Amino acid sequence: MSDLPPVADVFRRDENYWERASASRIDDYLLGGCDVFDRDRKVADDLCQVAPWLPVMKRSAQRHGSQAVTTLAQSLGITQFLDLGCGYAPGWGAGDVHDPPLPYESARAIHPGATVVYVDADWVVINHAHSKFDQCAATIVVQADVRTVEPLLAGPVTQALDERAPVGFLLHDLLPWLTDEEATHLVAALQAWAPPGSPISLTHASSDAAPGASMGDVVKTYAAADILFRPRSREQVAHLLGPWHIRDPGIALIEQRLGPRSPRPSRKVVRLRGDQAEDQVVTVPAYAAIATIPSP
Ligand SMILES: C[S@@+](CC[C@H](N)C(=O)[O-])C[C@H]1O[C@@H](n2cnc3c(N)ncnc32)[C@H](O)[C@@H]1O
Repeated sequence: MSDLPPVADVFRRDENYWERASASRIDDYLLGGCDVFDRDRKVADDLCQVAPWLPVMKRSAQRHGSQAVTTLAQSLGITQFLDLGCGYAPGWGAGDVHDPPLPYESARAIHPGATVVYVDADWVVINHAHSKFDQCAATIVVQADVRTVEPLLAGPVTQALDERAPVGFLLHDLLPWLTDEEATHLVAALQAWAPPGSPISLTHASSDAAPGASMGDVVKTYAAADILFRPRSREQVAHLLGPWHIRDPGIALIEQRLGPRSPRPSRKVVRLRGDQAEDQVVTVPAYAAIATIPSP
């Protein structure tokens, strides 16, 4: 399905991590963070030139992701979560709470004993996660590449979670960084490992036409930095979910799910977007879906 150029493996530990832009640090910068190097900032600035709406998309997706954890905990009774490609944690908002709340904060607001396993391949992200979560009971941080997910599930995840009870899988803005084959393999492996009823929550950049959303230029800008970025159509996202039961309202645009709570651009985002007027924000081209493993 993809014609994208081959992409180098950015996760080798022996690499000088500042010599190459990273998707996680670019994301952090687009979300207003500052844990970035010049190369990341340059790519982020180029992205904002071709797609001034991108920071709003990231923020909307993050906000939806937090809300989805609440839905899984509240409506489906999920008490254990596996956050794959967890990325940098969002910053603090007013009143010393993360804005949006972190998965363990959302989950524990509903189930005080909830457990979250945070996973990322990027060891800088992992070090941040350790500094944030190691003090926190019932959160576990694991460095792993989800392209080979079986050892992760069989080892650290099985030790941390009860695989006989449903597990909530969070794949928030993760699958666009995987090829079709890798994404298909990951989703199928999660289904094979977890019991029926286990939900998956995903957010995914959309390749379906959205007015003014220059997604093709975003793909090219990431590719120029040697980073695979693979937005998908609604149909392709549905294909990845295969036999999973997609819950209402289906694979829907994130801002339709957020409704009036859709975030507006922050001051930093407006600065990144240069002279683009705020009213030029397009429909955020990203989908969200919650699906569950059907009973056999
Ligand atoms: C765009 S960030 C999303 C972060 C967070 N989930 C969110 O929704 O804000 C994607 C994250 O996935 C991680 N990632 C990408 N490919 C991965 C892989 N093969 N294995 C594990 N993590 C991966 C990146 O390091 C990055 O932190």
